[in-house]
Amino acid sequence: LDNGLALTPPMGWMSWERFRCLTDCKLYPNECISEELFRRHADLLVSEGYADAGYEYIIIDDCWLEKNRDNKTKKLVADKKRFPNGLNPLADHIHNIGLKFGLYQDYGTNTCAGFPGVIKHMQLDAQTFADWDVDYVKLDGCYANISDMAVGYPEFGRLLNATGRPMVYSCSWPAYQEDAGEMPDYTSLKQHCNLWRNWDDIDDSLESVAQIMDYFGKNQDRIQPHAGPGHWNDPDMLLLGNYGLSYDQSKLQMAIWSVMAAPLIMSNDLAVVRPEIKDILQNRVCSAFEDLKIKVIAVDQDELGIQGRRILSKNQIEVWSRPITPVVSNNQHSYAVAFVSRRADGAPYRIVFTLKELELHNTAGYDVQDLYDDKNHLGVFRPANQFITRVNPNGVTFYKFTAL
Ligand code: GLA
Repeated sequence: LDNGLALTPPMGWMSWERFRCLTDCKLYPNECISEELFRRHADLLVSEGYADAGYEYIIIDDCWLEKNRDNKTKKLVADKKRFPNGLNPLADHIHNIGLKFGLYQDYGTNTCAGFPGVIKHMQLDAQTFADWDVDYVKLDGCYANISDMAVGYPEFGRLLNATGRPMVYSCSWPAYQEDAGEMPDYTSLKQHCNLWRNWDDIDDSLESVAQIMDYFGKNQDRIQPHAGPGHWNDPDMLLLGNYGLSYDQSKLQMAIWSVMAAPLIMSNDLAVVRPEIKDILQNRVCSAFEDLKIKVIAVDQDELGIQGRRILSKNQIEVWSRPITPVVSNNQHSYAVAFVSRRADGAPYRIVFTLKELELHNTAGYDVQDLYDDKNHLGVFRPANQFITRVNPNGVTFYKFTAL
């Protein structure tokens, strides 16, 4: 969507994966979907250093609404117990500390958790979002006719635009079409949405991460070409900091999401993220030499906005590669290359590739740097050379090949 927003994949924090639809604030005072939860996470995003690393949007997912609209005005109403001040003071606080405010709604009659959707009140709701100073809208697609979405989603986007308030527009429409076996019209998606969920929800496990990777790998020919500045594929939230992923698996998700030019939207409890996981999320795994140009987030946010691909698999080591800057004079790209082990057989697995296999053809060669270890500068490799890496079980190694 050409609205000047999301020129790189959006970064931030969203409630759904970790906090779901917890609404009982007596039983779960620190976890329930409430003004307090979002204020606290906005504050933590800043105080814990995430905002400095680029995380910007605080996004309320489902379960923030009252069960019914206002009787007279038909306006949406935030849950009166959990958001006793409405949404404006929360939005103000988020803006005052330099962040942006996102909100979930649904194109159908109801949200996935059963709260009122926008379908009969699209203009009113778009205006209400603008009045609440929303900067990012996630529009889900439960309780809707899938066949209406190709018209309805662009229509809601036009209504958002007509308010005059710039809002990032995240569409779930292709995920519902894919689920129903229909082919999404990516040309239309690119035109009408800043990002879109292609497929199923992520859950807190490596299995779920792997399923999403396999989906993107298998379908990359029809998905990958459509990503670019202002319009991104969305493989769903980052799990880092929760229960399911080990240290190595956390590095894996971060690396592959960056290769996929994915939105980096965490869903975790920022108060309890262990320091070594926070270091992965903030790219401070090795802070000895602060050079932002060689960091994982910089790969995700690369200005060319070209989504990467799974280029081969050998002995259960998958190679994922993304063209990035700098581009040298003979039009050769630099690359971020991730080696993902789908193995579980104990010792780190040593594997040898030719640069040709890795599709690295620049005759002048590449200067190679380990993206997870600043001190590990591997030197110059030319197309005739071999490249050796050693990958932990269910882990990743990740390098930047800078074209010379
Ligand atoms: C759907 C979406 C999720 C989340 C829930 C909320 O499943 O895909 O990301 O928003 O609805 O109910």
